[in-house]
Amino acid sequence: MTLTDALWSRRSAYSFACRPLELGSLSSLLRLALGVGRRVDAYGDPQYPLSLAPSAGGLRSVRPYVIVQRAEGLELGVYRYDAPAHELERLSQACEERRLREVFVQPEFAERAPVVIALVADLETVLRKYTLRHYRTVHVDTGLAVQNLYPVSTALRLAGCAVAGFHDSALGRVLGLSPGQIPTLLYVVGHRPGT
Ligand SMILES: Cc1cc2nc3c(=O)[nH]c(=O)nc-3n(C[C@H](O)[C@H](O)[C@H](O)COP(=O)(O)O)c2cc1C
Repeated sequence: MTLTDALWSRRSAYSFACRPLELGSLSSLLRLALGVGRRVDAYGDPQYPLSLAPSAGGLRSVRPYVIVQRAEGLELGVYRYDAPAHELERLSQACEERRLREVFVQPEFAERAPVVIALVADLETVLRKYTLRHYRTVHVDTGLAVQNLYPVSTALRLAGCAVAGFHDSALGRVLGLSPGQIPTLLYVVGHRPGT
């Protein structure tokens, strides 16, 4: 699919096929939308990883977590995506649907979405370099990340939707976040209905 086709055909999806998301599709989505594009000499690291999506100061302030509900080739559970290593680190076992329903303002997403990607801003990383007003840049970084997630999902023939309607404390409990970690956006993803 060309970029033009992906931009024209992109839509937010509110329902998904029952079938699980394959590890290969999830891997491609994470790699191309949120993964590392190149390495440069920066911050005292000769191989400092920069994301494919631009981020303020190249800090990669927004870190992805993945809640796997229905997937093939991957155990159910809550994961952290380690972008430089392109690895999923399993943090906990499958999240009960009841707990996930408490996360969403529209709880139907909990039963429909095979996979939920949570974008989480690491404020300490940002405020170590910048002044307080730069708390805003994490939201811009989040927007850029989701602007990658949408067309990459489309090109992979997947269905996805950005979701800002979530409850911080419930999500923080599911992901095991600390006070300096601020969830900024969810992205639910799976196969298109009828595919
Ligand atoms: C930052 C952001 C947050 C969103 N949050 C929600 C949400 O909480 N619930 C929802 O149903 N849709 C949500 N959406 C999807 C929008 O409603 C959708 O993008 C809009 O209706 C336009 O439709 P389209 O994406 O198909 O062009 C969100 C989209 C964005 C970009």
